[in-house]
Amino acid sequence: MVLKSFLFGLVLLSVACSDNSQEPLTGTPMEKGGQLYQIHCARCHGSDGAKGASGAKNLKDSRLSKAEIMYIISNGKGVMPSYKNTIKGDSSIIWLTDYVQALRK
Ligand code: HEC
Repeated sequence: MVLKSFLFGLVLLSVACSDNSQEPLTGTPMEKGGQLYQIHCARCHGSDGAKGASGAKNLKDSRLSKAEIMYIISNGKGVMPSYKNTIKGDSSIIWLTDYVQALRK
């Protein structure tokens, strides 16, 4: 009986702790990058990259290299938070980086 309620508690705990920001992504790498972008980045950069909230750089005008973008996503810059503990997996960062470069005009 005690074991049963302990196990039930564990299930509740793991549900409560599950991270909603890591929804399963679907589609092509570019589509997955877009989903990550909408979840994590659009509130400052806007869905087209040009919103500029909280001083966010206009990603349409940005000419950074892939390596530089990956570095900023992982480590953050100024007001922009670091995502290395939020966005899991090297491929996710690569999908996101390709998406960010595709926002350019
Ligand atoms: C809290 C608001 C905020 C969020 C959320 C945010 N950023 Fe930023 N971002 C900024 C700010 C502010 C800067 C300018 C930093 C500086 O130069 O001091 C910036 C700069 C950048 C740059 C550098 C652009 C350049 O040309 O210098 C890139 C690339 C970037 N962000 C991508 C992203 C991506 C991808 C995400 C989502 C994972 C994201 N940002 C989430 C605020 C944000």
